[in-house]
Amino acid sequence: MSVSALSAYELGPRIGSGGMGVVFGAKHRVLAREVAIKFLHPNYIDDAEAVERFLREAQVIALLDHENIVKIHDSGVSERGPYLVMEKLTGETLKARLERGPLSQPLAIQIADQVLQGLAAAHRKGAVHRDIKPANIWISDRDAKAKLLDFGIAKLGDRTSITTTGAAMGTVTYMSPEQAAGKACGPPSDLYSLAVVLYEMLIGKPPFEGDTIQVLQKHVKATPPSLPARFPAHLRSAVAKALAKKPEQRFESAEAMRKALLDANAPGRPVRRNVLAVGALLALAIPTTFLMSRPTQPIRGQDVPAPSASTVTVSRMEVIPFETREEVDATLGPGQTATQAGTNGEEEVTVEIRNGQERVLSRKVVRPPIPQVVKVSLFNLKCPKCGGWNTRDAKYCQEGCGHRFSGGASP
Ligand SMILES: Nc1ncnc2c1ncn2[C@@H]1O[C@H](COP(=O)(O)OP(=O)(O)O)[C@@H](O)[C@H]1O
Ligand SMILES: [Mg+2]
Repeated sequence: MSVSALSAYELGPRIGSGGMGVVFGAKHRVLAREVAIKFLHPNYIDDAEAVERFLREAQVIALLDHENIVKIHDSGVSERGPYLVMEKLTGETLKARLERGPLSQPLAIQIADQVLQGLAAAHRKGAVHRDIKPANIWISDRDAKAKLLDFGIAKLGDRTSITTTGAAMGTVTYMSPEQAAGKACGPPSDLYSLAVVLYEMLIGKPPFEGDTIQVLQKHVKATPPSLPARFPAHLRSAVAKALAKKPEQRFESAEAMRKALLDANAPGRPVRRNVLAVGALLALAIPTTFLMSRPTQPIRGQDVPAPSASTVTVSRMEVIPFETREEVDATLGPGQTATQAGTNGEEEVTVEIRNGQERVLSRKVVRPPIPQVVKVSLFNLKCPKCGGWNTRDAKYCQEGCGHRFSGGASP
């Protein structure tokens, strides 16, 4: 690709930027087609690895011709450095949209569904995005169609060599536990990141907050808070499943996660079998006491001891997947009461459920021991300019303050 190929376009204003690139609007001089041209950020132009990663993004996206992935028309190297020519999207990033507050449940699920369709196509071709976050999801203003942007740190097949550092770049808010621990990540990593995005779309903030190191530690070790009880049980379970720490405990594919979310969104969704099992037992056994003997187990019919009292007590300190009070409620008859104890990792709460209403009986702050031994060795380079933490091989501050590191010194 030559300089003249780029001169076919009339460059317009800058329309966006991210960790790696600067994006301009442009118009093809002859075809009058509106495009977006992404250039590698000037800070990285001398960095051979960054140039290679940037140009590989073009190859990855070109391979993934899908309506939920931004289309790429061309790529090359110009006097301004390497560039990609993409379709110009109208609308805004999900990040910009979320700055105005959370989304309705149907819209959040619609967006997650479309991102999952894009991811399913990518995963089928052996590509893992590895940087799913609101700034890399575009929402069209015409039809709220979502498109995935920025395959800049995607892993394709087994070409992993240049992605070791890429995995640890940028915001850690959406990182999977395996990414946060600096391990290899496959398709389940994208599903985890999307679940973080979905959680944020629904309630306006991500499940884990704090400084970089705290968030990394929480991704690796902390139980994610469950979505509030106002969301349907199956949506809460689906998000909790996708946020499982172990990749193999998440959905087996993007398609499977889509199906679970769409099921969760369907009106009049039938009650699940295990709830019916509990309900059937209740019908036989009320008045009764349900005391879960093993606190980490979800509700299971066989765990229920013999009936003996007039209150239904479901005691769970940590439940994965998060079986919910709607399910408990669905098992109660008129006037019957259940108490439920649970934790979101920060508070231990006991609630009483009666006639479809819940009342908090007690609330106690708990401080789960967040283990200090977390693999954060990738992030051991403190920026002297902004104080942000960087991967040890960072050449420029990954927090974007522009500081150039002279060597790989530890803090
Ligand atoms: N095709 C496009 N059309 C319109 N805006 C875009 C397009 N691609 C990227 N952008 C804007 O530029 C920003 C940075 O693009 P992105 O590909 O994510 O670069 P980076 O690799 O630097 O993160 C996006 O968050 C978005 O605001
Ligand atoms: Mg980006």
